[in-house]
Amino acid sequence: MALSIDLSDRRALLTGASSGIGLGIASALAQAGCDIAGCGLEAHDTPGAREFFSHVQAQGRRAFYQPLDLTDGPATRAFVEWAAAQLDGIDYVISNAGANFNLGAERTTEESWNANFQLNLAAHWRIAQTAKPYLDLSPQPVILINASTQAFRPLRGAFPYNVAKAALLGMVQSLALEWGPHVRAVGIAPGFIDTPMNVEWFGRYPDPAAKRAQVESIHPVGRIGTPEEVGALCAFLCSPLAGFISGTTILIDGGRSASAQDV
Ligand SMILES: NC(=O)c1ccc[n+]([C@@H]2O[C@H](COP(=O)([O-])OP(=O)(O)OC[C@H]3O[C@@H](n4cnc5c(N)ncnc54)[C@H](O)[C@@H]3O)[C@@H](O)[C@H]2O)c1
Repeated sequence: MALSIDLSDRRALLTGASSGIGLGIASALAQAGCDIAGCGLEAHDTPGAREFFSHVQAQGRRAFYQPLDLTDGPATRAFVEWAAAQLDGIDYVISNAGANFNLGAERTTEESWNANFQLNLAAHWRIAQTAKPYLDLSPQPVILINASTQAFRPLRGAFPYNVAKAALLGMVQSLALEWGPHVRAVGIAPGFIDTPMNVEWFGRYPDPAAKRAQVESIHPVGRIGTPEEVGALCAFLCSPLAGFISGTTILIDGGRSASAQDV
């Protein structure tokens, strides 16, 4: 029989489900057989939320969605309880949502520092902690946390984001130690992925198309990545095929970090 990823009837909680990488993850997990409860900043009747529903339902799986601001701690915990009730349990937590804070160290304000750490660090812990009792009841539970290549090598001018993403490496290690052997915790570290977050970043340059071409050219694979490729990695990491992977963060960056320099 061919090697395949079978997550039939598993139940996944996914943050940042309404855009970019989250849509790629929703698609791949549904294709593998998961029902998914997602959240995002977008309301139900927005293109992003509708796309989430259509990606999951196209695979014949159940989709649930709530608009949520993950910087709101009590609302985040309530979302996890709601997701568990809709899905009748949780097998996988895919803590994906995040946003860039394109500020250098000198320009970072108390307000942006706090907002960044609520979203890009604390929310991951709150989601994991609130989901833990449900993961304990699952036969093969997995937590995936979306960090970034910036956790390993910072991008100039994104100071608070770089710092929070680096801290996620420690969160993944700590969760794996504390909640293993039953729960596996794994980080993913995408490089440049073609999502609205990067379209916005390219748009900060006088010639966004030229900047994109330059960024593509510094990747050994000659292009940037797709949300679907990150989704496929997540499906693999949730599966028993990845049963020996825990407490580490996996790069998916088209080989870019293999180079010491960009020139
Ligand atoms: N795109 C990339 O190249 C790239 C690279 C490395 C890491 N990442 C990480 O991948 C994750 C997804 O990024 P993306 O590129 O798909 O971005 P995106 O902007 O396309 O989507 C972000 C998602 O997170 C949600 N979100 C943002 N702020 C939120 C908040 N306060 N509360 C609740 N939900 C919120 C949005 O609603 C959306 O669903 C992020 O954690 C990001 O840091 C992205």
